[in-house]
Amino acid sequence: MFRKSILIGILAALVVVSAGAMLVSSDGLASMIVKDSSLSAEQAGEKTSIGARTAVIPTPVWVIGSYDKEGRPNMMTSSWVGICSSKPPALMTCLRKATYTHGNIMDKKAFTVNIASESLARFAAFIGRVSGRDTEKFKETGLTPVKSTLVEAPYIREFPLVAECRVIDIVEVGSHTMFIGEIMDIKADPSILGTRDYPVLEKLKPFVFSPGASRFYSIGPSLGTISELAEKGDNK
Ligand SMILES: Cc1cc2nc3c(=O)[nH]c(=O)nc-3n(C[C@H](O)[C@H](O)[C@H](O)COP(=O)(O)O)c2cc1C
Repeated sequence: MFRKSILIGILAALVVVSAGAMLVSSDGLASMIVKDSSLSAEQAGEKTSIGARTAVIPTPVWVIGSYDKEGRPNMMTSSWVGICSSKPPALMTCLRKATYTHGNIMDKKAFTVNIASESLARFAAFIGRVSGRDTEKFKETGLTPVKSTLVEAPYIREFPLVAECRVIDIVEVGSHTMFIGEIMDIKADPSILGTRDYPVLEKLKPFVFSPGASRFYSIGPSLGTISELAEKGDNK
């Protein structure tokens, strides 16, 4: 009787093991892994959904130059920005209708993009907090407006890298209007240029914006060239 129950036990164990083996062979090892509900989402390697919002994405920091109807120069900080075409060379800045700059660009169909260095961060912050509607930002900051040679918009002398743009398209996206500007020329301080007239980031020292934290952050040292990184061979 005792021997019979041992035999039944062994047979039952074999059935369980072979069922497991079938799972492995049909579904792969993953189906054998039992989820440990005591692990946090981070420990389990999963992502946490934080909702459909934009303010969680790090962005560049540009300052947009424009003239108002009376020809007074204005500037505003814009981080909802990017490159959108190589041919023609074009970029975009997305502005709320409430900004003074929005009306200026609608009127003149031109703007400049001024890339700030770290040493200019305090200006980028101030310029993004007050409106040209009631403040003469050039006067307040002591920065110098320079009339662009190719478009009807001022650039900022103290900013080391500027783009002169003429509006080629305007897209109403929602809360923001996207102004697409064809880059008519780029002007750079010779001191930030390296070989083949490319700006050297260590000299330009641009910085990024974390909207959620409402902070600017420095960009660290180079991680390597694209070919160095791509050819390392450990791409898995
Ligand atoms: C870092 C930063 C980025 C900003 N980016 C944008 C942007 O992309 N679009 C926008 O409409 N406002 C943006 N703002 C807010 C405008 O710069 C702000 O409303 C400014 O006062 C508008 O100036 P203006 O009325 O003289 O045009 C940003 C502000 C900061 C500080």
